[in-house]
Amino acid sequence: MGDEGEIWFGEESVEKMVHWACKYVPSASCPWILEVGSGNGTLLLGLLDAEYQPERLCGIDYSEGSVKLARSVSAARGGDNISFHLCDFLKDDPPKLPSMLQEAYADWDLIMDKGTFDAIGLMEKDSNGMTPADGYPLKIGRLLKPGGHFLITSCNFTEEELKAKFANPRTGLMYHSRIQHATYTFGGKSGSICSSVAFRKPL
Ligand SMILES: C[S@@+](CC[C@H](N)C(=O)[O-])C[C@H]1O[C@@H](n2cnc3c(N)ncnc32)[C@H](O)[C@@H]1O
Repeated sequence: MGDEGEIWFGEESVEKMVHWACKYVPSASCPWILEVGSGNGTLLLGLLDAEYQPERLCGIDYSEGSVKLARSVSAARGGDNISFHLCDFLKDDPPKLPSMLQEAYADWDLIMDKGTFDAIGLMEKDSNGMTPADGYPLKIGRLLKPGGHFLITSCNFTEEELKAKFANPRTGLMYHSRIQHATYTFGGKSGSICSSVAFRKPL
């Protein structure tokens, strides 16, 4: 890419995450896909445009306003069959979803996160010094099917930090691949505004 100085976290990141999914978890495999913290549903709508089966796309968010907005945006775009559910990913264990959808552990082919782990990472620590984000990687590992993937885009954590948190014996996940983002150069050093890293649960 090499377009120095460019800053983005919106539509282009959706495009890149969808492109990654098409390459590694193609729609032809009819995958079950969960987005944690789906906001207004843009990422799942990107997957719909890429011809993923809407009945197998699910977004969860703990904000009632976001869930309502995502439902109305997706209905307006022909994605009525994408399901958006009110769910606190950290508290509902496993996420409680309608019976037609997955309800158990080890059920998802692909889990995606765009900005949600960042938001959770900003929450306050408890009296034991634990943050709500500490349990998140373990839960991702448990929810994925063997052979399933987790793709995360973050603006708060570097690629190395994401690898350390998600690819370890506790989660059972392994580093899979990364998405190249635009870079910037400042004070002689270069870096990326965002990091997107994919992990895989071995078979
Ligand atoms: C930065 S926004 C990203 C939204 C969307 N992924 C996007 O890229 O537009 C983070 C989202 O995560 C949701 N969220 C934060 N903590 C959550 C939790 N514990 N369970 C479910 N959703 C959560 C917020 O309500 C918000 O919609």
